[in-house]
Amino acid sequence: MTPDELGRMIYGTVCSACHGFEEGEQSRRALVHFAETVKERLTRPQVLELLETGRNQMPSFAPFSTMEKRAVVAFLFDETGATGSP
Ligand code: HEC
Repeated sequence: MTPDELGRMIYGTVCSACHGFEEGEQSRRALVHFAETVKERLTRPQVLELLETGRNQMPSFAPFSTMEKRAVVAFLFDETGATGSP
């Protein structure tokens, strides 16, 4: 499994329940909107930190390995087709 596939799989099984996924136009828009907002407001290290700590209703994903966390962050920043500054 490539890191891209890993990130997509983690997002699809874990994060998409709350943040949306690509299946279906509505859901895809939700995902792209989410990814764009994340890119505009947070850097990759900040997202990694957030996955570690959690925030309000956003759970902590501290038990994930570094590789898993990096993969899902890469999915959000690179693979969603969302535009926005790197
Ligand atoms: C139980 C629902 C839930 C799950 C599962 C979840 N999140 Fe969240 N997430 C939230 C909520 C709610 C917030 C808003 C937190 C707040 O109040 O600041 C959030 C916020 C975020 C933010 C910050 C967004 C911003 O613009 O500040 C990122 C990035 C994020 N989540 C990524 C992820 C990733 C990656 C996963 C999968 C590993 C994930 N989330 C899984 C509910 C969830």
